[in-house]
Amino acid sequence: MKIFVTGGAGFIGSNFVHYWLREHRTDEIVNFDALTYAGNLENLRGAEGGKRYRFIKGDITDAAAIAEAMAGADAVVHFAAESHVDRSILGPAVFVQTNVVGTQVLLDAALAAKVKRFHHVSTDEVFGQLMLGTAEAFREDTPYHPRNPYSASKAAADHLVRAYATTYGLPVTISNTSNNFGPYQFPEKLIPLAVTNLLEGKPVPVYGDGKYVRDWLYVEDHCRAIDLILQKGKAGETYCIGGLTQDISNLEVVKKIIALLGAEGSAMQFVKDRPSHDRRYAIDWSKAKRELGYAPAHSFDEWLAKTVAWYRENTAWWQRVKSGEYQRYYREQYENR
Ligand code: NAD
Ligand code: TYD
Repeated sequence: MKIFVTGGAGFIGSNFVHYWLREHRTDEIVNFDALTYAGNLENLRGAEGGKRYRFIKGDITDAAAIAEAMAGADAVVHFAAESHVDRSILGPAVFVQTNVVGTQVLLDAALAAKVKRFHHVSTDEVFGQLMLGTAEAFREDTPYHPRNPYSASKAAADHLVRAYATTYGLPVTISNTSNNFGPYQFPEKLIPLAVTNLLEGKPVPVYGDGKYVRDWLYVEDHCRAIDLILQKGKAGETYCIGGLTQDISNLEVVKKIIALLGAEGSAMQFVKDRPSHDRRYAIDWSKAKRELGYAPAHSFDEWLAKTVAWYRENTAWWQRVKSGEYQRYYREQYENR
């Protein structure tokens, strides 16, 4: 099988490329990525140079480049996106361009290329927020209620993907997944930001009261879920993929990381809250369990320890990532908060 991956130089995409080449020994991957601030070819060491992998630098909004690059693909796995809520609050325009227009360009190309499957990687944030202290969880039939520019752009993309299925018969699947963590995650997101700040002897900025809840999914469990969807999932279907069955607050996550690193108790700094900060996310992944046999391979604590160890062992990777553009972003995001 030949898979056309978008955004394969980012966090989840690069983990997926490694996963797929390892697990599917005869398949080929074309990785199409614009190499924005979040794209990093260093994430793909080990894949590059092999006969089954090819990288193409390009923008998913460029219809001609996409049509040429997608030719001959059996399946598309679409990761490319602007992915960070805080950046979407600072500047929403590029989110609409990449996440909405880019997805529509890909859908047109996928129709023309007659791909057998278009898998769209989406987020649980399209559903909006749940309240603390409830047992509610997002399901495939939960109504959409996005509350920030990032989640609104992903919601728009999801609607377009479904519209191409019903209108033109494109064989699509969608996964709405919770917060991923693991190797190669850009240290603007909570877990790698916390780990790398602590390794640098800096405090972890905690938004608001820290009593926000995310459903944490280890990136390799996510890659395996996509594999299961491609093998066993039905065209036209959506699958909610999560990693937890119990709530863990941001405060608890940061405390666990502090304990794993043996850092000081004063390593947290409460800062001004994010506007329209979603209180709680939780995923009911029982459909994926029932229909695909999906379940996380390990507990959150085990995966978190493995992740912290990876950042400890790969200081050169994150130190390079945290130089340059990252410094400007960090000042804009955290100064005077
Ligand atoms: P990321 O920001 O780490 O990587 C995004 C990649 O897309 C980068 O390599 C970047 O260069 C590329 N890209 C951006 N704009 C592009 C464009 N116009 N053309 C081509 N390439 C472009 O993101 P991630 O965390 O790996 O997320 C991947 C996907 O998974 C996204 O669609 C995101 O919405 C979704 N998702 C992420 C999470 C999470 O917790 N990270 C959770 C649920 C869903
Ligand atoms: P993040 O990793 O940005 O993912 P998302 O906003 O997509 O869920 O944030 C995860 C949670 O951590 C969210 O509740 C916001 C919070 N957070 C902090 O408290 N401090 C930080 O510096 C960051 C980046 C996030």
